[in-house]
Amino acid sequence: MEKLVVKGPTPLKGEVTISGAKNAAVAILPATLLIDGVCTIENLPNISDIKISCTILEKLGAKITWNDEHSITIDTSNITTTKAPLDLTSKFRASYYMIGAMLSRKGEIEVGMPGGCKLGARPIDQHIKGFELLGANVTVEKGKIYAKAKKLKGCPIYMDIVSVGATINVMLSAVLAKGTTIIDNAAKEPHIVDVANFLNTMGADIRGAGTDVIKINGVERLKGNATYSVVPDQIEAGTFMLAAVATKGDLLIKNCITKHLESITAKILEIGGNVEDNGDSIRVWCNKRPNKATIKTLPYPGFPTDLQPQMGVVLSLANGTSTINESIWDSRFQYTEELNKMGAKITAQGKTAFFEGVKKLSGAPVYSSDLRAGAALVIAGTAAEGETEIYNLEHIDRGYENIEEKFRSIGANIQRITE
Ligand code: EPZ
Repeated sequence: MEKLVVKGPTPLKGEVTISGAKNAAVAILPATLLIDGVCTIENLPNISDIKISCTILEKLGAKITWNDEHSITIDTSNITTTKAPLDLTSKFRASYYMIGAMLSRKGEIEVGMPGGCKLGARPIDQHIKGFELLGANVTVEKGKIYAKAKKLKGCPIYMDIVSVGATINVMLSAVLAKGTTIIDNAAKEPHIVDVANFLNTMGADIRGAGTDVIKINGVERLKGNATYSVVPDQIEAGTFMLAAVATKGDLLIKNCITKHLESITAKILEIGGNVEDNGDSIRVWCNKRPNKATIKTLPYPGFPTDLQPQMGVVLSLANGTSTINESIWDSRFQYTEELNKMGAKITAQGKTAFFEGVKKLSGAPVYSSDLRAGAALVIAGTAAEGETEIYNLEHIDRGYENIEEKFRSIGANIQRITE
């Protein structure tokens, strides 16, 4: 078993470079199934979700060459099966993108029910609604999803809920459909724009990604033969911004798109931190105890749920009592119990948590319940006095590239230990 051992407190200082976005990359990889040929994808984060995605694609018949640890050349001209390995697809959430992509490419797919972080109920009814409106039959039984279609036909699709996954999945299934699909009430996250940009680079005709109406004119085929670089990770950048505030540090966060970070910047300024926006890098520093705040997580451009636990660490150390309302997931406050073991005073009731700020946290053994909870505990351990041991690292490794190396490079005393 592995654990991270963090000794604090350390104000994080220096420069850190952001990797490619996990939630864009895990959609772009299945999107290569739409290409009848070869393409190169660069700036892939070196994380376990990407490795599993690549293995699934290989099992479907794709040929992958690793150019370096962040770049692959993938040939999807010979897809040999429509059965994705059930054990792998049920390991992570984004395996559901195989459905949209394979429906387009082969008209058929069988995958395991998607896994991923346990954040409460994670229905996929909006994905299924989209596939069915485009003309597919979808059945869910015995932990498997089976979808089949003769020829998908474009149509208007109104999303009953703003969903990142359903928006991308419908985009994937509509790219090669006959006619035009219009997704109304679409999600607007940067990774949606990135997937659309990737598909357009390969020959798709998608307009409006990044707004709540996306128009997809179906094309005959995607030509491939192009290179695409994944957008920088908004959530990893936000994680380091909040780490700078929580540890009263000073970080220059490089290779990010600061436009994607506006909701985080606004909250950091509101609680008394400092932000300098340089366009493709952002400096965040804080030399005093942050002020209390009220946060509500919302779809983009609102405050992201994927930074809620990291913000929770900041607010657990703030002056006064703060409130977070988690409006996306039913069960994303599991990390608060771990922070309380470190001396925080947090009361979580359903989708709201109250943070009575304390002056300091102290090290303790803690368990990461999901990916972003794990990142929050790394920040908390760095800010806390004494030694924190963080367990369940498989969650963190799914989405953060070399987390301990990046934290060490900005001054944290952090080691990965195999017991
Ligand atoms: C994506 O999950 C991200 N994962 C999540 O990041 C992120 O928290 C979430 O979007 C919200 O931003 C990936 O991109 C792989 P949704 P997704 O569909 O697509 C409800 C992380 O830490 N809903 O936007 O699964 C759903 O229950 C992870 O990186 C339906 O009701 O999220 C939720 O309340 C965790 N029916 C809301 O919509 C559906 O068919 C938003 O979910 C789909 C979703």
